[in-house]
Amino acid sequence: MKKKIKKAGLPFITDRTDLKGKRVIVRASLNVPVRDGVVQNYFRIMRALPTLMYLIHHGARVIILAHIGRDPKETLEPVYNVLRDQLPVTYVPKITGRKVEKVLAELEPGSAILLENVRSEEGEIANDQKFAETLATYGDLYVNDAFPVSHREQASIVGIPQYLPSYFGLAFREEYSQLMKAINPSAPALFISGGAKSETKRPLLEKYVKKYDHVFVAGVLANDFFVARGYEVGTSLVSKDPLTDSVLLNHEKVLLPVDVVVQGGSTVRVTTPDDVQPNERIVDAGPQSLELLNTYIQKAATILWNGPLGSYEEGFEEHTKICAEYIAASKGYSIVGGGDTVAAIESLALNDKFGFLSAAGGAMLQFLGDGTLSGIRAVMTDGKV
Ligand code: 3PG
Repeated sequence: MKKKIKKAGLPFITDRTDLKGKRVIVRASLNVPVRDGVVQNYFRIMRALPTLMYLIHHGARVIILAHIGRDPKETLEPVYNVLRDQLPVTYVPKITGRKVEKVLAELEPGSAILLENVRSEEGEIANDQKFAETLATYGDLYVNDAFPVSHREQASIVGIPQYLPSYFGLAFREEYSQLMKAINPSAPALFISGGAKSETKRPLLEKYVKKYDHVFVAGVLANDFFVARGYEVGTSLVSKDPLTDSVLLNHEKVLLPVDVVVQGGSTVRVTTPDDVQPNERIVDAGPQSLELLNTYIQKAATILWNGPLGSYEEGFEEHTKICAEYIAASKGYSIVGGGDTVAAIESLALNDKFGFLSAAGGAMLQFLGDGTLSGIRAVMTDGKV
C-alpha cells in the first residue's frame, strides 16, 4: 500500500480512456426503500446508471458494490430486479468466496455483476483492512459513485482506495458540483432547515448564518428556540442539548415559525408558538409561517432546503408540500436534500422545477459543513496514481 496525494482537482473515471477489459469496482449508492421484496423508489438507482452505462459502453468489466438498509441481512436482490432491465448485469448473493471468484473470473468486458449487500460482511462497517484488501483484489480500478454514503469510514468507501487507482463517478460529480453552489451561494440566499438530526444541523446553521441572508428554522431545532425563549412546548421533540450560547439565538437573520400546528390527543389545531399546552406537541409549521417564508422564497437567488417543516413521516406533510410548491414556483436556484424533503417533491411530481435534488442526507449536511467527506479524502490519497 502506497499513499500519494493527487495534485489538483477531483479525478473522474471519465478521465480514463483505457477502460476496455479493465475490472472496475464501482461503489454505488443503491440504498433504496423496499417493501415486500419490491423497490419503492427508483431515484437512487436512476442516478447510478450513467456511470455504470459509461463503463459498460467502454468495455469495462464492472463490479458493483453497494449496501442496503441497516440490517446486514437485507438483500440487494430487489435492486438487481430493477437493474437487470437497464444493464447487462448478473447478481451474486455473496460478497466473498468461491462463487464470487468464479463469476469474477468469467466476467465479460462490457458487462457487470452486482454483489450482495456489502454490509452483510462485518468487515464493511468495521472498516477492516483485510476485508478492504480482499475487495480490492476484485478490480484494477476503483470508482466512488456513492456520495450519500461517503461520510462513512467503511471498507468499501475508505478502505479499497488505499489499494487501487481511484476515481469518482458521474453521480458523485453531480452531487459535488451542485453542493458547491450551496457552499458558495448567490445572494440573496435562503437556507430552510427542518426535520430532526438537530445535533448535525445546529453547527451547520451556526456556520451558514454567516454566508446566507436568511435562515428559516423549522422542526426540532425550532422547538429548541421556543424552549430557549421560555415557551411551553408540551411533548414536542427537542434536542438533548439546549440551545444556549448559540450565535443563532436572537440572530437577525434567523426566521422562526410565527404559528405552529399542534396535536393533543385527537385534536389538531393551529396556534402561536407561545400558546402550546402541556399535553400538546408541535407537528408542523403553521400557514402564516408558510406565507412569511414564501416572501423570502420568491426573493431568493439561492434556496438551500434540507428537512421537512413538520413530522412528515407521521403524516404531517401539508406544509412541507406547500413549501415545495412555493419553491417550485420561484425563480431562485434551489438545492434540496434529505429523504423526506425529496419524497415530498417527488410525490408532487415537481422534480423538474428544482435546480438539484441531492440523493444524500447526512452526507450532504457533513459536506456542506466541512467541504469534504471521508470518501473524498480516501480517493484523493489513493494507493496508486
Ligand atoms: C445512505 O445510503 O443514505 C447513507 O449511507 C445513510 O445510510 P446509513 O446511515 O445506514 O449509512
